[in-house]
Amino acid sequence: MTSTFLLLGAHGDLTRRFLLPALAHLQRDELLPLDVSVVAVGRRDGDDDAFRQVAAAALQEHAAHLDPVDRAALCSRLRYAVADVGCAAELRPLMQRADGPLIIYLALPHTLFAATITALSEVGLPAGSRLVVEKPFGTDLAGARRLNQLVDALLPEDAVFRVDHFLTMQSVLDLLGLRFANRIFEPIWHAGHVERVDIIWEETLALEDRAGYYDSAGALRDMLQNHLLQLLCLIAMEPPTSLGERDLRDRKAEVLRATHPPTSGQMDERTRRGRYTAGMVDGRALPSYADEPGVDPDRGTETFAEVTLTVDNWRWSGVPFTLRAGKALAQNRREIAITFREVPHLTFGANRPAHPNVLRLSLDPDSIAIEVNVSAAGRPFELAPATLGAQFAPPDLPTYAHLLAAVFAGDPTLSLRGDEAEEAWRVMEPILGAWAAGGAPLQDYPAGSVGPTHKTPTD
Ligand code: BG6
Repeated sequence: MTSTFLLLGAHGDLTRRFLLPALAHLQRDELLPLDVSVVAVGRRDGDDDAFRQVAAAALQEHAAHLDPVDRAALCSRLRYAVADVGCAAELRPLMQRADGPLIIYLALPHTLFAATITALSEVGLPAGSRLVVEKPFGTDLAGARRLNQLVDALLPEDAVFRVDHFLTMQSVLDLLGLRFANRIFEPIWHAGHVERVDIIWEETLALEDRAGYYDSAGALRDMLQNHLLQLLCLIAMEPPTSLGERDLRDRKAEVLRATHPPTSGQMDERTRRGRYTAGMVDGRALPSYADEPGVDPDRGTETFAEVTLTVDNWRWSGVPFTLRAGKALAQNRREIAITFREVPHLTFGANRPAHPNVLRLSLDPDSIAIEVNVSAAGRPFELAPATLGAQFAPPDLPTYAHLLAAVFAGDPTLSLRGDEAEEAWRVMEPILGAWAAGGAPLQDYPAGSVGPTHKTPTD
């Protein structure tokens, strides 16, 4: 039986930059099942040939390293249909033409999710169909609940993929191997030995023409509420019995339920937000965020966000988990740093300070480093820092290719379950509320700098 992959949002940025290149990689590696027919759906007039040309240009720009033969092979499999995705009458003929289950990818602005899911419900989906929903899944807790209700009415939970592409990053998944296939980390993986955890995604990348989406989202909604909170789950969760979808997602959901934002009295001290002003990044002059086309400066959208959360359970009580993401910064620093407590007694004496042990998991590029203390060369009764590290090969496939492969395989393990999506908003909503009320005032930072200068006590 043939499945039809309906890619709603044929002309969107996500399709051009990520989904078409991902499909082309799967085509190259013979991982795009032959019985899947791919239909891109957009509002613009056009036909199969015109869309194939659009797709070829997108692949030329975003997947130029692939062999032209593989790119052409994907393009020849693409078909195009015109429809308003919020209109059941326009979707119906398209869905009825499909012979077998549908795999529907909402590569759409999030403002269209509810109307599209409602329209899909009006038409009804064939048995075995799947739905893929991009982030943000709602823009607050009430919104995520409403979307979950609509989705629940359409399909069973295991056919719903609330995707977060960080969960298919090789370096992120390495965390599972590191934590759960080694004897040495788990015995010290708790508040008794861990002083703090920092989850950092600092980018040199700025707005990159994404004002339409980003200016109404901001760094907290764009990165912390989803990607970085998911990383926190993988760091903080209890060992799952298996890597099956139930066990893994249960353990992550448990962490989210234990995770709490700062209290209202702690908001100024435990959260920070900033917005870049004009500056130079990597030799490139950037305008102020507020002057970027499409930005409403009065909105006060943050391009840098930092929050310190607590995971209030037996394992992590009292350990600060700081999540930080920022754009237009001096360097790309994308890592999880786990800082361990001091040794109980320093044999070397108080005037021979030891550095704390830090386990650094760099996410892009993928590497691991452990900072330790050793005796200094030629001065054995003094200390010197040393780093033990390993660099890993770049991933074989882009993250979106792994994500799509899981969707085609019908495996939702690395997607969010409905309760996780709601809990993540429950954690972040009080911070957004405090900021909207003027808490932790927005600080300016020049593009190309390290971010806002006012630091939290955990810096
Ligand atoms: C996206 C965010 O989800 O993730 C972007 O919307 C961010 O703002 C990006 O730059 C980072 O992930 P990647 O994989 O594109 O480096």
